[in-house]
Amino acid sequence: MKGTDFLTLAELAPSELESLLNLASRMKRGRKRGLGDRALAGRSVAMIFEKPSTRTRVSFHVATTELGGNPISLSSSELQLGRGETVEDTGRVLSRYVHCIMARVNEHGQLERLAKSADVPVINCLSDLYHPVQVLADLLTLREHRGPLKGLKVAWVGDGDNVCNSWTIGAALSGIRFVAATPAGYEPAKPALRLASRISSSTGAEVEVTNDPEEAVRGADCVLTDTFVSMGLEAKAAARRKVFLPRFQVGSGLMSKAKKGAIFQHCLPAHRGEEVTAEVIDGPNSVVFDEAENRLHTTKALLCTLLLGKRELAALRP
Ligand code: CP
Ligand code: NVA
Repeated sequence: MKGTDFLTLAELAPSELESLLNLASRMKRGRKRGLGDRALAGRSVAMIFEKPSTRTRVSFHVATTELGGNPISLSSSELQLGRGETVEDTGRVLSRYVHCIMARVNEHGQLERLAKSADVPVINCLSDLYHPVQVLADLLTLREHRGPLKGLKVAWVGDGDNVCNSWTIGAALSGIRFVAATPAGYEPAKPALRLASRISSSTGAEVEVTNDPEEAVRGADCVLTDTFVSMGLEAKAAARRKVFLPRFQVGSGLMSKAKKGAIFQHCLPAHRGEEVTAEVIDGPNSVVFDEAENRLHTTKALLCTLLLGKRELAALRP
């Protein structure tokens, strides 16, 4: 995996994803003893943000620092990129300074151009199409609360957005039965479903799309949702709420159709009273803050996976 870009999650083979999650668990357990605290010594990570971020910004900053590396947080308006310097020139120049570039961008195509021009690994930290680093944390959280991933059922209710698209791929790689319930016209993106279907044929996963939230949630081990109004869609907020509400809100009635003890996940930021009720997100089956914490541990594991050689990786034992 050393040196590869991480744009969709489909760059990982099923066994590589499992190893990464195992490493994240080891990192989590060994954190207090400083496991891997020199792993990225002398290495820098450029972090480019075209959109706001709390979890991604802070977890990447802390992850890089705890691994002994140097994080450089940059908004696109601070870079010449914001004044028209090309993505390609930015990628070439940054590659002469840093060992990894992570970017949160408006359009996925920008990331593909950045990855093509950069000589160092490029990590997608959210585009309009995918949010793969989020799904690493979601999968670790699911495994912690519900055991081995293969054969679990996961229901997505709401917008077939960037997080949902990455979930179709994460589920496919993990042998999960994933059912996304969205209003008609808001289904997950076709390229994500194509990747998921190709991967599922070898892992036994099932990735399905429906317009019926109750059908999706029936017997699920985990129910997930996300905002109805992703960043950049603010002008469409009122129209979107009309489409999604009330049917696609995750409330206790819908949760009661899932398997007994089913967990609730949300990548955050959340909007209580919109995509989820306060009762569910603040209730006993919600694991959203474990999920947010796991952004840190999975990010450490991802950085080590992309930047270290096999022998260095194997040395990371608690
Ligand atoms: N979940 C997530 O990516 O949060 P931020 O937008 O705060 O980074
Ligand atoms: N779908 C949301 C995720 C935020 C982390 C967005 O793109 O705004």
